[in-house]
Amino acid sequence: MTAVQLKGVRKDFGSFTAISNVDLEIESGELVALLGPSGCGKTTTLRMIAGLEVPSAGQICFDGQDVSEVTVQKRNVGMVFQRYALFPHMTVEKNVMFGLRVRGTDKAETEARLEEMLDVVQLRQFRHRFPAQLSGGQMQRVAIARTLITKPSVLMMDEPLANLDTKLRGEMRRFIRDLQQRLGITTIFVTHDQIEAMELADRVAVIFDGDLAQYDAPDALYKHPNSIEIADFMGATNVFEAKILGAGSTPQAEASFGTLSFDARATDGPGHVMLRAEAIDLHLAAPNSGQNVISGTVTARDFFGANITYSVACGGETIQVTEQSRRMVDIGQDVWLTIAPDRIWIIQNTR
Ligand SMILES: Nc1ncnc2c1ncn2[C@@H]1O[C@H](COP(=O)(O)OP(=O)(O)OP(=O)(O)O)[C@@H](O)[C@H]1O
Ligand SMILES: [Mg+2]
Repeated sequence: MTAVQLKGVRKDFGSFTAISNVDLEIESGELVALLGPSGCGKTTTLRMIAGLEVPSAGQICFDGQDVSEVTVQKRNVGMVFQRYALFPHMTVEKNVMFGLRVRGTDKAETEARLEEMLDVVQLRQFRHRFPAQLSGGQMQRVAIARTLITKPSVLMMDEPLANLDTKLRGEMRRFIRDLQQRLGITTIFVTHDQIEAMELADRVAVIFDGDLAQYDAPDALYKHPNSIEIADFMGATNVFEAKILGAGSTPQAEASFGTLSFDARATDGPGHVMLRAEAIDLHLAAPNSGQNVISGTVTARDFFGANITYSVACGGETIQVTEQSRRMVDIGQDVWLTIAPDRIWIIQNTR
């Protein structure tokens, strides 16, 4: 398997800079998601790694070797696209074998690998069907098999699940995750869906406007975003302006709804305090202990089956609190919120 490195990579299209100075290390056998809004440069990054686009500056290395002089074919990367690009007039098995046919791989080897691939993607019983006779998920599996049969050293997937419905997307994510772990193939997966990125990836590279904004494991990214833009993109609902007193031995954040003690490292100055909705406890009576208690009134209730999210008006702000739906608290009810100091995250421009 192959480690992939981007060192100071930039890509200009005329006077427009699509990617500026990106450093990114993908370990051998790792599954990395490139996550970011439309137009941020995800596909451009993939195309440079594949050799379909030449960087304007910087280096791309496979296992430490600069590949700028290496052609697309020799880089041995496999690409799976959003629109599966299957050949409509070929059966499943002809589609899957295609890459080996054009390489002139001998017949016995081709057939052996075909059988292996049909097992891997569980499409043995569909081998004689044409693409039009398959479901979206099955077509996507054919596209994956067609790529994997060539034994790429890096697998790249550009929004491969975007055309599928929610349930099928979930199934395909698990399928891709299992397959990737079984084969141990270095994989780069492009998506603009933060849930998909967190569920699939070992590490997530968040790209905003052609810049690598943060590169972290999913839980680190979710709990410890390094800017309010990333917090927002990752779906954080409770991010509030606060005066941060972080330098002393008892760090505190002064927000409009009260002063909170926290455990994270911070400096003195303006900033934001982030409270994850599921990390807050909601009480119907004032708690005995005095630390990190915020009083408020329930103004709305959203029922999601397993969970309920309450909107609680607290000192001019609305704090969202998510809890398991074991009880229903009424709208208009006065409540007290508590949060442990180690579950508070502070975002400051300089840290
Ligand atoms: N060949 C090109 N010439 C000029 N500009 C380009 C070219 N290819 C991409 N761009 C621009 O570069 C930026 C990044 O494009 P890219 O396709 O990488 O975005 P993306 O993150 O994949 O977006 P999406 O999620 O919509 O697929 C966009 O502003 C796009 O218009
Ligand atoms: Mg794209």
